[in-house]
Amino acid sequence: MLACRTAGVDETRALGGAVATIADAGDVVVLVGDLGAGKTAFVQGFAASLGVTAPVTSPTFTLANRYEGRLIVNHLDVYRFDCPEEVSDLALPELLDDGVTLVEWGDTIASALPAEHLSVRIRFGDGDDDRSFELRTHGEAWRSRADRLRAVLGRWTVPC
Ligand SMILES: Nc1ncnc2c1ncn2[C@@H]1O[C@H](COP(=O)(O)OP(=O)(O)O)[C@@H](O)[C@H]1O
Ligand SMILES: [Mg+2]
Repeated sequence: MLACRTAGVDETRALGGAVATIADAGDVVVLVGDLGAGKTAFVQGFAASLGVTAPVTSPTFTLANRYEGRLIVNHLDVYRFDCPEEVSDLALPELLDDGVTLVEWGDTIASALPAEHLSVRIRFGDGDDDRSFELRTHGEAWRSRADRLRAVLGRWTVPC
C-alpha cells in the first residue's frame, strides 16, 4: 500500500497525472471516496497527462465518457446505479479492452470489475484542502509496476 497526501486540487490532479505516466491500455483504476473527495479531480489530471484536452467532468447523464489522448480514457461514475442490471448496460468488456478505464465509486460494482486493478481510496484530511490517498495494486499487471508507481508518486508519499 502506498499512502499519499495532497494539499489542494491541483496537487491531486498532478498526482493523477503522475499515475497516468505508467498506465497502459487495458488498465483499470477504481476510485473510492465520498462526494467531493477528489475522484474527478484525479481523473482530470490523469486524462490531461495523456494529452486529453477536452474538459473532463463526471459522466452524469451518460454512463461513461470517452476521451482520446495518447490512450483512450474511459471515465465511469457508477454512483447513481441502483440496480445491478445497469452494470451490464455499460458493456464493460468492450470498454476495458479499449483503453484505460477509471471508475468512480467502483467499489460498489467490484464484482463486475476485473480483479486486476489499481484502487485509489481518497479521504478528507484536517484542512479543507487536505486529502489522503491509499493506493493498492491488485494483480500482477499493477504489482509489476509497483516500484515505478512509488517512484512517480514520491513527491506526495507519506509513511504508511
Ligand atoms: N486536495 C484536494 N484534492 C482534490 N480536490 C480538492 C482538494 N482540495 C479541495 N478540493 C476540492 O474538492 C472538490 C473535489 O471534487 P471532485 O473531484 O468532483 O470530487 P468527487 O469526484 O470525489 O466527488 C473540488 O471542488 C476541489 O476543488
Ligand atoms: Mg466525481
